[in-house]
Amino acid sequence: MSFDLLIRGANLPDGQRDIDIGAKDGRIVAIEPDIQAEAGTIVDARGRLVTPPFVDAHFHMDATLSLGLPRMNVSGTLLEGIALWGELKPLLTHEAVAERALRYCDLAVSQGLLAVRSHVDICDDRLLAVEALIEVRNQVRPYLDLQLVAFPQDGYFRSPTAANNLERALDLGVDVVGGIPHFERTMADGAASVTALCEIAARRGLPIDLHCDESDDPMSRHVETLVREATRLGLGARATGSHLTSMHSMDNYYVSKLLPLIAESAINVVANPLINITLQGRHDTYPRRRGMTRIPELRAHGVRVALGQDCVMDPWYGLGQADMLDVAHMAVHAQPMTGREAIAWSFEAVTKLPAEVMGLEGYGLEVGANADLVVLQAVDPIEAVRMRPARLAVIRRGKVIARTPARRTELALEGRPASLDPASYAPAGR
Ligand code: FE2
Repeated sequence: MSFDLLIRGANLPDGQRDIDIGAKDGRIVAIEPDIQAEAGTIVDARGRLVTPPFVDAHFHMDATLSLGLPRMNVSGTLLEGIALWGELKPLLTHEAVAERALRYCDLAVSQGLLAVRSHVDICDDRLLAVEALIEVRNQVRPYLDLQLVAFPQDGYFRSPTAANNLERALDLGVDVVGGIPHFERTMADGAASVTALCEIAARRGLPIDLHCDESDDPMSRHVETLVREATRLGLGARATGSHLTSMHSMDNYYVSKLLPLIAESAINVVANPLINITLQGRHDTYPRRRGMTRIPELRAHGVRVALGQDCVMDPWYGLGQADMLDVAHMAVHAQPMTGREAIAWSFEAVTKLPAEVMGLEGYGLEVGANADLVVLQAVDPIEAVRMRPARLAVIRRGKVIARTPARRTELALEGRPASLDPASYAPAGR
């Protein structure tokens, strides 16, 4: 037998050790110990975790890497971020949006992040960012799956041309219907926008992913309308509620009614811990709310919860590095959920679960799946979340598309080892 690529001695996310993975014609064709075969490329992964790639279920690629344009967000709030983006929007050019997005995709590849669902603002009658990102989507397709959401940032009803622009964007080939009900003028308008947008998704046979209740207001309950409409229209897992931060502040009794309804509707939930922890609670003095949605409770009810990055170096967030392990790491801290099972879950929440939210075909570590894999300088998923280690090799369709050297420090301490591999310094229980 001969493979295009053979990975030797991998640790798999499910705990299997010393497994070989063979790939041919872009697909995984063998996963077993000690494969005897020739291969065009051999990757030595002995003792290293090999995982399907990272996936970001919630991002804004039209705004990424625009930090400081045209000025900084001084208050750090969501609303100043939206206002600042409104100042930048008329200044955008097709070339600048595409160039920043491509630069971000390079960074994503280097981090083993090979699929991104990006919202794109359609509240610009030129639809300039939409056209630029459709072009980028085609350009990066060989190495990164970019899914676009038609996002009416200024409100589906609140912005006079949003409804028309949203249909135009979908006609141009944007993949998913978006919305922002908590930003409409009234609660009633917000609820009506959810209904209108769900009906568009149903009519067009598209997924829907709403920025839903990204607020500390416990009365922001648009998720209940999303659940009702998803149920009425049979959208199920094609529908996603992103953020749901108001759930953090809601009355426990109301949440006890809401959780089973979310589960019954089968909608997905996406939390964005880096952004939720920094944008929510801004009107509080002390104690200050964390603003994350209720991940453990949603999980306990069987709801699919994935994690997103939302922002990197843009009007809302001046940090970030396209590393989904930063996102998992923050989720574990901010919730908090530091049990072993929850940390292991956080790794799935930036790999397998967002792949399910995006409906990615051929994703996974099984024979027949796409040969898209990442070799990490860590032994298992929990160590990966702890260390956010080097992505030693990033593989797309059986080809190595990025390599990063292992992190290693040369020590000059008398009587101590000369060289330190951080991954080998975990205690036996890890
Ligand atoms: Fe967002």
